[in-house]
Amino acid sequence: MQVAIDGPASAGKSTVAKIIAHNLGYIYIDTGAMYRACTLIAHDNNVDYGDEKAILNLIDHSTIDFKQEDGEQKVYVNGKDVSIDIRTPEITENVSQVSALRSIREKMVELQREMAGKHDVIMDGRDIGTTVLPDAEVKIFLIASVASRAKRRFLDFQEKGIHQDLKDIEHDIEVRDYKDSHREISPLKKADDAIELDTTNLTIDEVVAKITEIIQKKQKN
Ligand code: DC
Repeated sequence: MQVAIDGPASAGKSTVAKIIAHNLGYIYIDTGAMYRACTLIAHDNNVDYGDEKAILNLIDHSTIDFKQEDGEQKVYVNGKDVSIDIRTPEITENVSQVSALRSIREKMVELQREMAGKHDVIMDGRDIGTTVLPDAEVKIFLIASVASRAKRRFLDFQEKGIHQDLKDIEHDIEVRDYKDSHREISPLKKADDAIELDTTNLTIDEVVAKITEIIQKKQKN
């Protein structure tokens, strides 16, 4: 079973995907974390975020892995836990530029398909239903208002002790949405056969329940 969850930034994709993966015993793959890892690799090597050749070369000589630790999924680059480093404002502001580079996307899509090949998976991102897993049995497109997404991210940051102005978060979300949906290659787009779910007025539990019901219906068919 392949479940694709796409949608704009902070629509709740990873939160619900993690819970569903845990409940159903699926592997969860956070593809946004992979593009963030690429951006971090460029940053740490002082490579321009637009320098496609140099970034690809660095990625070709790096490893990006997910590891399950204490019930949490951690992201490792070259054996180092970068789970926190990939979520700083510097990386968040520049990940759209790096993820728009053709060869970087090709490389990540290849890795993502490899990871998805052997297990039941739930994968979240922007182009999973359209490009990475076009034959996924279940495709969900999660949307929510910018205000509600910014508020969720604000509360999430507060919990982690990170301070960022609500207005700045709103601005970042709008800019990223625009860039992610207007890039040339695999832009953020609902697949024709995806089910759209607006989470603005839904709790996490409600979204989890709705998606689980869709998956279970498919399993019966
Ligand atoms: O889901 P996220 O916010 O962590 O993703 C970070 C960025 O990575 C997002 O702004 C666009 C890019 N991305 C992408 O281009 N394709 C994906 N499948 C997942 C993320």
